[in-house]
Amino acid sequence: MGKRLYDIDNPPPLGEVPEQMHAWLIRPERFGEPVSSFKQEVVDVPEIRDDEVLVYVMAAGVNYNNVWAATGVPQDVVAARQKAGEAEPFHIGGSDASGIVYKVGAKVSNLAVGDEVVIHCGTWSAECAIVRSGGDPTYSPTFRTWGYDTNWGSFAQFTRVQAHQCLPRPKHLSWASSGSYMVVGASAYRMLAGWGRHAVRPNDVVLCWGGAGGLGSMAIQIASAMGGVPIAVVSSDDKAEYCKRLGAKGSINRRRFGHWGILPHWKDQAGYAKWRAEARAFGEAIWEILGERRNPRIVFEHPGESTIPTSIYVCQRGGMVVICAGTTGYNASVDLRYLWTRQKRLQGSHFANDDQARALNELVAAKRVDPCTSQVFAWDDLAHAHQLMHENRHPYGNMAVLVGAQAVEASVPVETRDSVPEVTYRQPRLELSPGETHPHRTLVGEAMHEGLVTCSVDAKLAEVARLLLDNHIHAAVVTKDDTAIGVVSQTDLVLARQGRSRQQAGALTAGDVMTPDPLTCEPDMLLADAVTLMARQGIHRLFVTRPENPNVPVGVLSFTDILKRIARPN
Ligand SMILES: NC(=O)c1ccc[n+]([C@@H]2O[C@H](COP(=O)([O-])OP(=O)(O)OC[C@H]3O[C@@H](n4cnc5c(N)ncnc54)[C@H](OP(=O)(O)O)[C@@H]3O)[C@@H](O)[C@H]2O)c1
Repeated sequence: MGKRLYDIDNPPPLGEVPEQMHAWLIRPERFGEPVSSFKQEVVDVPEIRDDEVLVYVMAAGVNYNNVWAATGVPQDVVAARQKAGEAEPFHIGGSDASGIVYKVGAKVSNLAVGDEVVIHCGTWSAECAIVRSGGDPTYSPTFRTWGYDTNWGSFAQFTRVQAHQCLPRPKHLSWASSGSYMVVGASAYRMLAGWGRHAVRPNDVVLCWGGAGGLGSMAIQIASAMGGVPIAVVSSDDKAEYCKRLGAKGSINRRRFGHWGILPHWKDQAGYAKWRAEARAFGEAIWEILGERRNPRIVFEHPGESTIPTSIYVCQRGGMVVICAGTTGYNASVDLRYLWTRQKRLQGSHFANDDQARALNELVAAKRVDPCTSQVFAWDDLAHAHQLMHENRHPYGNMAVLVGAQAVEASVPVETRDSVPEVTYRQPRLELSPGETHPHRTLVGEAMHEGLVTCSVDAKLAEVARLLLDNHIHAAVVTKDDTAIGVVSQTDLVLARQGRSRQQAGALTAGDVMTPDPLTCEPDMLLADAVTLMARQGIHRLFVTRPENPNVPVGVLSFTDILKRIARPN
């Protein structure tokens, strides 16, 4: 008789399924930083359905989705499943894996015990009308991401998967490498090959954001394999070198530009002209790499809010911006004039179907796409790997965690990334020659008002509301130990009351509802630039700080202040 539970570095005999297994669990009561949200526990091995298989996990890949699962944002995955009728009060994540089939369901004919597989994360119901009629199952309302939307992912000794998710493991790869690429690889493949006439054609220029990241490293190689000319966008010169080794024709360092984020309003002529000049300079950087004036026919997008305006601007007439994420935010702004007059396509894309996952796997098996596994973690370091990703301190390419392979596979050499410096937004300064005039020469210091109304971080909402009413102001600065840490506005107070009882809202403090780290400017910033900044961010005021004391605002520049100037007779 077999053992009830096997150690992590002691695989059970082939085909023997113990009662229990080691796993990394996320529980709602621990939502927060991944390093404390994930905990190792022992749980029962799940039963499988007729169309499923049980795979003994050798290695698991690390992806963003389980950073989200760990923090509970943007959704509580456990609550979502419980609402759908599942009982387990925990989440076992993991959407990438390599492993060995240990048990097959009664209706499975394409797999047998002992098969070595990699697993793609697309699951759906075979009973769905779209699936039954041969439609793309990623359009099915039953589509779920295994190990994120579903429980029993790869962060455990055994994982339960639908048989169609399993593909042959490329034999030339280690277990760790074969467990690390499918989520990003298959997603990138669909983006570049799955959109009809916008599939990459030979000699097409393909702009790949985050070229040294998980998706980007796959995109460069896939575009190259399809005959395209990939150009990467990165944030450091060493990443540029890495992308070149993957096949990029060249790279653009995005830190050379500062026009990111939501577009200036089209009525803001000064702000818009400035934005367009930077976007054009970015486009010229592409031409410089190519040695000719050609724009990307395909723009491979995932940063989202920060970069979409530029992606649409530089995309070739009739080309496509294809996007699968919004890492920097979801409210991307689009200047529709570029979209319709130049007939560009903005296309959403989400993971891949079986055929696309298989096609990607074949590119990997043929050694035309490398998994770019840059760091392999021991089983005990799984939470730490997610914490690195959460803090954006993870290495280039893809990461894997050893599960069963801990017993057989030594770690591959580690290539860790230097810490990436924070972006600092350089406030444009007025640089005029003596006697020279400037069309927008007013400075913030001339329009702002001095003095601030403040409240403590612990002030209750009613107190803050009274403060705003008594002072006839729309917002107050929130302070803690004499330092400004946020701003609380009328809007924050009104929204905090929404969906809450009077008692619940009454228990909230300024610290609970404030907007932290409010945007600031300095007195010698051009007023025109300050207006552009406010309009782009959708805010009505900037706090004014002096460089010698950046945490203590000395005044406010609000739309009312600017209106007062407009109302003044000449
Ligand atoms: N829907 C799907 O099917 C699907 C599939 C896979 C992944 N995703 C999502 O796609 C996103 C990226 O995944 P990943 O695995 O590639 O992550 P990753 O390895 O962390 O790469 C993301 C890259 O984005 C770049 N980046 C970060 N901030 C940026 C900014 N402000 N502007 C421009 N670029 C920025 C970074 O490169 P630089 O700093 O060098 O520019 C980074 O390398 C995640 O949100 C993930 O959840 C979606």
